[in-house]
Amino acid sequence: MSRLPTGVTVITALTGAGPAGLAANAVNSLSLEPPLMLACLDRGSRTLRALEEAGRFGVNVLGAGHAELAAGMALKIPVEEKWNGVGWRERDGIPQLDAAIVWIGCALRDVISGGDHVIVTGDVIGVDEREGDPLVFHAGAYRPLA
Ligand SMILES: Cc1cc2nc3c(=O)[nH]c(=O)nc-3n(C[C@H](O)[C@H](O)[C@H](O)COP(=O)(O)O)c2cc1C
Repeated sequence: MSRLPTGVTVITALTGAGPAGLAANAVNSLSLEPPLMLACLDRGSRTLRALEEAGRFGVNVLGAGHAELAAGMALKIPVEEKWNGVGWRERDGIPQLDAAIVWIGCALRDVISGGDHVIVTGDVIGVDEREGDPLVFHAGAYRPLA
């Protein structure tokens, strides 16, 4: 699957402890009517725990040039450190990253077992987008679109 080119997202959630987020590319649309999203998250993900507590999550599609941010969001360092220098704002109780070209806010719907991961699904409650090329991930490397 590492040979399947994907975009790179940061799945975010907000709790009383502050923002949480992880780099994720196992993310997709699930349904058009109603609009639903899905993401596959490792059972050990701290962001998974945060989004279950919040009952909401955001899908932030990263723009080109944000490979360093993606790599930082994939680290198992203290959660507060992951957010050092990361620009974000709260929207509908969910962190929206300044680096996102698309932000999809979701209300958590289901958490479905899938081996060592779970599939989280969410009802789309908000969308924001702006112009810009996406960051692409392929064969273990971050790449520009062309
Ligand atoms: C490009 C990329 C894509 C990733 N996709 C996923 C994913 O879809 N699901 C997942 O659970 N982890 C994924 N990871 C790994 C997580 O980002 C990593 O385990 C992270 O440390 C989890 O952080 P957390 O424990 O703070 O939630 C990906 C990492 C990278 C670099």
